[in-house]
Amino acid sequence: MGPKRTGPFASAKERNEIFMKEKIEQIKKEFVEEIKSITDLKSLEDLRIKYLGKKGELTAILRGMKELTAEERPIVGGWVNEAKAALEELINKKEAEFKRKELNKKLETEKVDITLPGSKLKRGSIHPLNRVIEDIEDIFVSMGYDVVEGPELETDEFCFERLNLPKGHPARDMQDSFYITDEHLLRTQTSAVQARAMVANKEKTPIRIITLGKTYRREDDATHSHQFNQVEGLVIDKKEVNISFADLKGTLEVFMRKMLGEKTELRFRPSYFPFTEPSYEVDVTCFKCGGKGCNLCKQTGWIELLGSGMVHPNVLKMNGYDPEKYSGFAFGTGIDRLAMFRYGITDMRYLYRNDVRFLNQFDRMDNE
Ligand code: DAH
Repeated sequence: MGPKRTGPFASAKERNEIFMKEKIEQIKKEFVEEIKSITDLKSLEDLRIKYLGKKGELTAILRGMKELTAEERPIVGGWVNEAKAALEELINKKEAEFKRKELNKKLETEKVDITLPGSKLKRGSIHPLNRVIEDIEDIFVSMGYDVVEGPELETDEFCFERLNLPKGHPARDMQDSFYITDEHLLRTQTSAVQARAMVANKEKTPIRIITLGKTYRREDDATHSHQFNQVEGLVIDKKEVNISFADLKGTLEVFMRKMLGEKTELRFRPSYFPFTEPSYEVDVTCFKCGGKGCNLCKQTGWIELLGSGMVHPNVLKMNGYDPEKYSGFAFGTGIDRLAMFRYGITDMRYLYRNDVRFLNQFDRMDNE
């Protein structure tokens, strides 16, 4: 392959080949010279285009091959391809070298200082109301209760009538309500779920439920918010099981001592609720002063916390349970008040303002 003789004896074909071969060699030489002075990737790419690109010098030779004879073409083509491969190899080498250098430079200049303090991740925290809700659920689930839910937009029937509070009953006045229509209102008490549980269970026993959630009344001051949360408990079983006041007392003692401290004492005061008979209001010893008297308990040593009683026979009857065959107890309390006592919150409305300065104070409790 290739021309072996030059000079006056070379044929026209040989002279042509010699000329081409020299030209290719020349291009190669120039390239090798030029690439030496290349110092960055950008000019390396320019160089590649200059020699190997569409309008590049080697490509021009391939284009010019139409001038050659059929015999000459594959020979010259072979040379061009060899040259191309050689140039490409040099370019690739140079490119790899640049990249390696760049990486090394990066590694040197971008050293990570592991002794620098890390950037703090901003973390939210569980809302104080949800903390209390979760604790209440844990306490009652551990005693075998189910946690059930009811609607916040309630009917007059379930919120009042089925709880022995017919229309016009004076005890309705204590719960100034948001009526949506004559028959629909934002529930004023979770007691509505008592009636729902009985109707849904159709004399199935035992009913042993708590329900927690939002309730609404038209009131708004430091200790009342138009939206607040309640927890309600209901236990019903057959007469022979004999659910008694002692069961109610024991249950509320466990509940309050787990929530507010083992030393908490309970005081049951006779009271009136339309859905229970007898009814009691339950006070707990002030956990701030332990019962001695302080500003929190208004010097009485006691804090009024729960409503409770034995389920009224009318309520049993109205919701499908024969009062001759079944008995039970019920209780209800405000979750917001529990949260306020527990965390020393002085204004209930803080719980609903979503002020991060208030909420942030609870994040450290996540690790307790
Ligand atoms: N629903 C009452 C209220 O909102 C609280 C209450 C009292 C619930 C006595 C009860 C109960 O289940 O037996 O003031």
